[in-house]
Amino acid sequence: MATPRNPHFDDNRVVWSDEYSGHYVPIAYDVQFDEQWRLFLERAIGFRDHTGVEISDNFINDRIFELTGVRDYIVASQNIDEAEQNRDIGGKLYLDPKFPIDFFQGKRCLDIGCGAGRWTKTLKTLGAHVKSTDVSRHGLASTRRINDDVEELNLFDILEKRADLHGYADFTLCWGVLMCTHDPYLAFRNVAATVKPGGDLYIMVYAPTYHASDFVLNSRRRFHQQARTNEQKLAFAYEISNRPENAINLLDMLNTFYNWVIPKDVAVGWFEQQGFEDITVLNLHEPHNCGWHIKGHKKS
Ligand SMILES: C[S@@+](CC[C@H](N)C(=O)[O-])C[C@H]1O[C@@H](n2cnc3c(N)ncnc32)[C@H](O)[C@@H]1O
Repeated sequence: MATPRNPHFDDNRVVWSDEYSGHYVPIAYDVQFDEQWRLFLERAIGFRDHTGVEISDNFINDRIFELTGVRDYIVASQNIDEAEQNRDIGGKLYLDPKFPIDFFQGKRCLDIGCGAGRWTKTLKTLGAHVKSTDVSRHGLASTRRINDDVEELNLFDILEKRADLHGYADFTLCWGVLMCTHDPYLAFRNVAATVKPGGDLYIMVYAPTYHASDFVLNSRRRFHQQARTNEQKLAFAYEISNRPENAINLLDMLNTFYNWVIPKDVAVGWFEQQGFEDITVLNLHEPHNCGWHIKGHKKS
């Protein structure tokens, strides 16, 4: 099969514009993150004890703090090992405003592109009923350890094939997924359809900052030209990582065929077009932000 056209490498397009919707084709979404979730399950260095993936209680306490501002929500073990003490590898989020601590209590939530399950565990700990979906076999296997309601789902099937999920959720979270697809705008419309009137949607997409930097763009070009086998890909990620413990962040940004950055007003426009109000950029004042964290309330 011919390699699909890549917006960056073939067309010099990095910044997403909704005019590009329909120009690019889907790829095998089930494989591109699968290796990093497999390495997490294997507890490989750089793929565990990292804010981007870890699901142990102390790490989930940190995620809860980021979302709500409440510290030590889970009574954590007194035996904090060195890896857990040093648990900012991968960075932390600066969300303001935050969600009230009881915001998720009793809500029906959908975690679309759940990966290894860190947000699923966070929402469940805060009292939500969560359905977790992804296309990665190892991501689903990881999340099944912490949630019974886990389903393989390509988010692009929601609008046309999954009427049962339309208006399904009080709260849908889609964190770090949309911009890694051939059509983030179409992806957003699929995800937005799952929110019931009066419900809320929270997305994180890459901003035109770090992911549009020369370092990322040049590394991605080299990676896609040179690395073929999983071993070569992993070696490349370790090579350019500032420290081996951070390898997952590097592999995550290298592995994706599509890696759009999204202007804030474009992402806010998606919410407006799909009938959301009270649209809030939760990290507007974050220094050196990598992404946009945006929440909206679907009109009743
Ligand atoms: C960067 S990871 C984020 C994982 C998780 N949301 C988190 O924050 O830890 C992106 C996830 O989206 C999933 N994904 C990518 N394309 C998808 C698609 N078309 N349908 C469903 N999930 C997809 C990947 O398998 C991967 O687990």
